[in-house]
Amino acid sequence: MKKLKEIGVAVLGYGTVGAGVVETLLKNGDLLAERLGFRMVLKGVADVDVTTDRGVALDPSLLTTDGSALLSREDVDVVVELIGGTGVAKTFILQALEKGKPVVTANKKLLAEYGGELHRVADEHHTEILFEAAVGGGIPIIKALREGLCANHIESIYGILNGTCNYILTRMEEEKLPFEEVLLAAQNAGYAEAEPSLDIDGYDTAHKAAVLASLAYGQPIPLEKVTVRGIRGMSSLDIDYASEMEYRIKLLAILRGGADDIEVSVQPTLVAHNHPLAAVSGVFNAVQVQGDIVGTTLYYGRGAGRAATASAVVADMADAGLNLLAGGRRRDLSGVSAAKILPLREPGAVVARYYLRFSMLDHPGVLARVASVLGGHGIGIDSVIQKERAENMAYVPVIMVTDQAKEKDIADALRDIADMQNVTDQETVRYRIEDFK
Ligand code: HSE
Repeated sequence: MKKLKEIGVAVLGYGTVGAGVVETLLKNGDLLAERLGFRMVLKGVADVDVTTDRGVALDPSLLTTDGSALLSREDVDVVVELIGGTGVAKTFILQALEKGKPVVTANKKLLAEYGGELHRVADEHHTEILFEAAVGGGIPIIKALREGLCANHIESIYGILNGTCNYILTRMEEEKLPFEEVLLAAQNAGYAEAEPSLDIDGYDTAHKAAVLASLAYGQPIPLEKVTVRGIRGMSSLDIDYASEMEYRIKLLAILRGGADDIEVSVQPTLVAHNHPLAAVSGVFNAVQVQGDIVGTTLYYGRGAGRAATASAVVADMADAGLNLLAGGRRRDLSGVSAAKILPLREPGAVVARYYLRFSMLDHPGVLARVASVLGGHGIGIDSVIQKERAENMAYVPVIMVTDQAKEKDIADALRDIADMQNVTDQETVRYRIEDFK
């Protein structure tokens, strides 16, 4: 049998995903070698903790606490960073790139915040940084954008990109459970980030949206300009009312490319029951991409967890190896290819329909006053539902669905309504409704 070439790999970070990568190489190493025409040989695994049993049959002599020494070894060709965060992970990645070694990472936070710098260093040293696992777990969405859809202007991307949030929203809806209880279950299942606010306040989704947007639109995305709203404290009332109106609430990353600007936002959004994204439940992720040539495409799969993420990491390791053997990288993944940099759309200028839930004083004329303020801001009303008043309560839930309106007009109207005496006793809940047009 022909002797296969070898590519030496180093894994930095032996946590959930690191162990999944080692396990995948042990399980499917032969299959990969058959398909790729070279063998990926694990030269070492670095972690500060080399004693915890990860449930993987790894030769203990491959474990080290010295990541820097490991990535510098002559026989290491590809470096895999699975430490996470923006501290030592960034240091190791820069060290590897400066040595001309390709880096594979799942680190969306690092890419969203420092992607420009990392890609520049990679460029200077004629190497690359690959990040399939950073978005959508096991879904090959980066590959789809950079390869399968490269002939298209990307008109829009809608993504359910955070498994933890989708899991929480699904269980709240299906099992009528409160937010906190389901969050705990997601953390115990190993989906959630170490810092839960990254998931539930929408930042993990925003990091992933920024990575997708920079790839789709070829320009860096300043995170501080992205509208980010999470699902913290979401009330099951809204999930139930949305459901009565045949909508589901999803934490959606919304990317839309216009002629003059780009919209990038993350927010809980009402999606019609019969839209494919509404059917995405539990820890699953899905991404709908609309290209000007291809039309609408949809990608679905496990968005988090050890095995799914490992599948994406190993695919990138395979690409890095293929590129090395071919004499260099074959795609520009720097996300800075656009000839013209477009601004991000001002949040107030975004036009959409809205779900509004007022806690409204149950008294003649109050509804008319609210409708008149909305009308005064040019906001039309599609439908109104008033719920029954609970005993001894002066205020009732009133749900309104608006016509298409500018976000700024909605915000101004709600502020005016909040300022009125004897109208509402709580902040009005507002969610966007997405019609995918
Ligand atoms: N915390 C993330 C999620 C993990 O729940 O989707 C994958 O990035």
